[in-house]
Amino acid sequence: MERLKLGILISGRGSNMQTLLAACQRGEIAADIRLVLANRSDAAGLVAARTAGVPTKIVAHRDYPDRTAFDRALDAALRAAGVDFICLAGFMRLLTAEFIAAWRDRMINIHPSLLPAFPGIDTHARALAAGVKLAGCTVHYVRFETDTGPIVAQAAVPVLPGDDEARLAARVLAAEHRLYPLALKLIAEGRVRVQGESAIVEGALPVQGTLFNPAD
Ligand code: GRF
Repeated sequence: MERLKLGILISGRGSNMQTLLAACQRGEIAADIRLVLANRSDAAGLVAARTAGVPTKIVAHRDYPDRTAFDRALDAALRAAGVDFICLAGFMRLLTAEFIAAWRDRMINIHPSLLPAFPGIDTHARALAAGVKLAGCTVHYVRFETDTGPIVAQAAVPVLPGDDEARLAARVLAAEHRLYPLALKLIAEGRVRVQGESAIVEGALPVQGTLFNPAD
């Protein structure tokens, strides 16, 4: 399989982008980062991307009259950079059906919950309010409904007594930083096949054990 030519879309901090960048630069993922694209000039992740020597571009949504025009500009920038696969990493704009269709099965996202539970924003607050005992994160192919699409991989972490949003988010984020590079590596190795609404992973290592919370 040919190496993926990646475009990573960010809106903010970009910590997931940095873990993808680092894994690619260490040679752990058969992918080259062609472009890190932000919709805001103040996205902190841009600095890290530039420091890592990766091409960056700002396509500011405010410069476009509507979502269609903005998404066409995104598409043009990605294609001009030779991108053939997109990773959304904290990209906070809703994408149009046209853009999503154009990149169908060539675009993944990470969401900080065990989907299909708690899609959308304020996910940790809603998980805490629901009293779930396990939280986690999901990497999935992108479909039109927000935070839906074939699931590539998930990681679970416990919700602990005394957790607030910040503590839970930090625990989930640590798992995200391991899950996103793993999911992308599997895809880059050609081991993930989308079949209907599922993603089938070839040769996946079986998980050892069961996570109980509480354990006693
Ligand atoms: C992450 O929690 C990710 O799951 C969500 O937005 C956050 C982005 O964080 N989609 P970062 O910009 O990658 O640090």
